[in-house]
Amino acid sequence: MPAKTDSFVQTEMLSPTPKGIGRAAALLRAGQLVAFPTETVYGLGADARNGEAVAAIYATKGRPSFNPLIAHVDSIEAAQNLVQWSDQAERMAAAFWPGPLTLVLPLRDGHGISPLVTAGLDTLAVRVPAKACARDLLAAVGGPVAAPSANPSGRISPTSAAHVAAGLGGRISAILDDGPCGVGVESTILGLTGPSGRPPVLLRPGGLASEDIEAVLGQPLVHRNAADPLTAPGQMLSHYAPHAPLRLNATTFQAGELSLGFGPGDFDLNLSASGDLLEAATNLFGHLHRLDALAKPIAVAPVPDQGLGAAINDRLRRAAAPR
Ligand code: TXA
Ligand code: MG
Repeated sequence: MPAKTDSFVQTEMLSPTPKGIGRAAALLRAGQLVAFPTETVYGLGADARNGEAVAAIYATKGRPSFNPLIAHVDSIEAAQNLVQWSDQAERMAAAFWPGPLTLVLPLRDGHGISPLVTAGLDTLAVRVPAKACARDLLAAVGGPVAAPSANPSGRISPTSAAHVAAGLGGRISAILDDGPCGVGVESTILGLTGPSGRPPVLLRPGGLASEDIEAVLGQPLVHRNAADPLTAPGQMLSHYAPHAPLRLNATTFQAGELSLGFGPGDFDLNLSASGDLLEAATNLFGHLHRLDALAKPIAVAPVPDQGLGAAINDRLRRAAAPR
C-alpha cells in the first residue's frame, strides 16, 4: 500500500458529552492523538507519559525539531506531582488556574513524563486549562496530556474544530468539538526556574495579560526579547503564518490586498470594530484563517500593544516574519 494511504486514519468527530469525552480519553490512554478544545486554542493531545504517542505529535504536526510541549493537567495537585512547587508557583496558580497561564518549573523525581515532552530539559511547562470540557477530558484520562496547538507546524493556530479538521483531518484519531475557543490566543508562559525571590520571566505573551500577573506579584516581570535564545525554545520567528504575505501596522490599503482592521473603519474583516482587545484576541486566528482561504496578501491595521494586545502583536509579527 502506498505510504500516503497507509497513514490515512478516519478522524472521529466527538461531541462534548460524557460519551464523547470518554471515547476521547480511551483513545488518548491507548496512545492515539486526539485534538481537544481549551479556552485558548485547540490542542493536539497525546499521553505525556507515552514516548511513542508524543513522538507522533511531532511527526503529525511536522514540527521541525523537538521543541518542548506543555503538559495539561486537571488540577493544581496533579501539577504538583510533576514539578517542584514553589511559593511563586502557588501564588500564580491560586490567582490564575484554571486559566490561560502556563508555568515552567523544575521537574520533580518520579514525574513519569516522556523526555520527548521536555525535549530533554529538566524543566516542564504545565497548565490547568479553564474550559470545562478540557478538564473533564483530563480527569477521564487520569494523567498529564502533552498538547501543542493542533495545527501543522508554522501555520495559523486553530480556534475551532473545523480549523483542526482542515489542517490535520485524516491524520489524527479524533477531534473533540466544543465550539469556538473563547480566549483565542495561546496561554501566557511564565518561567519560574530562577533562584527564589527572582521575578518570573515572561517567556511568551498570551491570553493572560502580563499586567494582570504583575498586579498579583506586586513586581514587574522580566521581559525577554523574542530573538533571545533563552525565550521559550519553540518560539520560532516565523509562525502562525498564512500562505500569502502579511503586512503589519497598515494605515492605508492597496488594491488586491485584504484588510484586517481594528477599531472603526471599512475593512474586509475587523478584529474588533469597537477596539476591544479581548474580542480581537478571540477573533485573531479565525479571521486569519478566513482571509488565508482567499489566497491574497493581507494587511493588518495597528493594534495597541498593552494588555492582550501584546499577545496579538506577538502572533502578528510572527505571521508576518520572513519564512
Ligand atoms: O494555550 C496554549 O498554551 C496551547 C493550548 C493547546 O494549551 N498550547 C500551546 O502549545 O500553545 P505550543 O506547543 O504551541 O507552545 C508551547 C510553548 C513553546 O513555545 C515551547 O517552547 C514552550 O511552550 N515550552 C514548553 N516547555 C518549555 C520549557 N520547559 N521551558 C521553556 N519553554 C517551554
Ligand atoms: Mg503552536
